[in-house]
Amino acid sequence: MSDTVKYVLDENRLPEAWYNLAADLPEPPPPVLHPGTGEPVGPDDLAPLFPMEIILQEVSTDRFVAIPEEVRSVYRQWRPTPLYRARRLERELDTPARIYYKYEGVSPAGSHKPNTAVPQAFYSKQEGVTRLTTETGAGQWGSALAYAGAVFGLEVDVYMVRISYDQKPYRRGLMETFGARCVASPSEETNSGRAILADHPGSPGSLGIAISEAVESAAMREDTKYALGSVLNHVLMHQTVIGEESMQQLESAEDYPDVVIGCTGGGSNLAGISFPFIGRALREEAEIRVIAVEPAACPSLTKGKYAFDFGDTGHLTPLVKMHTLGSAFVPPPFHAGGLRYHGMAPLVSHLKELGLIEARAYTQTEVFAAGAEFARIEGILPAPEANHAVKAAIDEAMRCRQEGVSESILFNLCGHGHFDMQAYIDYFSGNLVDHEYSEDEVAMALAGLPVVAV
Ligand SMILES: Cc1ncc(COP(=O)(O)O)c(C=O)c1O
Repeated sequence: MSDTVKYVLDENRLPEAWYNLAADLPEPPPPVLHPGTGEPVGPDDLAPLFPMEIILQEVSTDRFVAIPEEVRSVYRQWRPTPLYRARRLERELDTPARIYYKYEGVSPAGSHKPNTAVPQAFYSKQEGVTRLTTETGAGQWGSALAYAGAVFGLEVDVYMVRISYDQKPYRRGLMETFGARCVASPSEETNSGRAILADHPGSPGSLGIAISEAVESAAMREDTKYALGSVLNHVLMHQTVIGEESMQQLESAEDYPDVVIGCTGGGSNLAGISFPFIGRALREEAEIRVIAVEPAACPSLTKGKYAFDFGDTGHLTPLVKMHTLGSAFVPPPFHAGGLRYHGMAPLVSHLKELGLIEARAYTQTEVFAAGAEFARIEGILPAPEANHAVKAAIDEAMRCRQEGVSESILFNLCGHGHFDMQAYIDYFSGNLVDHEYSEDEVAMALAGLPVVAV
């Protein structure tokens, strides 16, 4: 019997193309709408914000999109990432389940985020852009884009959600080391930021607010484009290298997952690990269960409304149909900053509506308990966001034990938590509280949903 712990792929097994789920969907997701006209947006509407190649990828229905060699050569810096078999955890849980995790924490930023930061910076550079703006929650995405900017010689301005800016000064330091400028959001630099500060001077910020600031800042300058770290179709597609590599690695383990798990903020790491497997299920090649895991304090998929909404608080973005808590909803300041987003990727929402994925929500103390247990047993400290996936994987393994079934569980350990130690310290000192989201605030935010004819 093999006792392999780490399944590694040679660099020449790095995928040559991203997988595009749009090719295999039984029905396409609803169109993205222009907020002014209520009509589907076209490439010209998006051109001020995104490079044309990205816009084409956003609407592509090709099953595979070739990864440019320039991007593959940067990916080689950390990809293929290892797939681990959690043998020690399995023994500790005394479960018949086989638990695997794909570890994205080996990237330059410490998470899956550079998988899309690098191609977005590459296409921007190719089209003559010299500056990128973006938002960041936990700081993982901001660090990823800062790194990609350094690789391709682009200026990068990052609007970092105020609460994370205060909680994670070392993340800011990392972005600055890569050469980016980091601004606490809401800021005085934009109309959107100033409007929020006028009403809520002590605002902890949110991803929705930071997106408004970054979009506004990009729209103001010809030389600048905006880069988004999640939610949009092209971002989810860039992340599919995770699932494609996992599939090859599981082949060498002579296994195939029964369950695939990922945490969900905007939906990109879940998409990355699961879409290639969902594609196979849609082509009737192999069955799969997929579980999206979100924080109980910001439960868009499990408690949100499936409706057209703005992607940002300042209402500068197009309208997308997604599970949303309302764009005005500011989630309570819990520690998984990357999961504090009011909406969900339209593709992930669409899959949920079609009954092709499941969703569940956990409180922050239960996910930190799972993350700390995992760190002690496996020796890798997960990011607070990733702890949601760890908790679900452990719960699924315990279910297997109760039912006496030997299933194969694959989860995405999408980032390390080395810059999140304050969260762990708070957890161990008993200072981590389970924030309830306010149902009244969500009701108020949902009452403000835009009225759409379709
Ligand atoms: C480590 C980590 N995981 C997950 C997320 C959530 O994003 P997504 O759902 O797009 O993967 C973030 C976002 O910042 C993150 O930093």
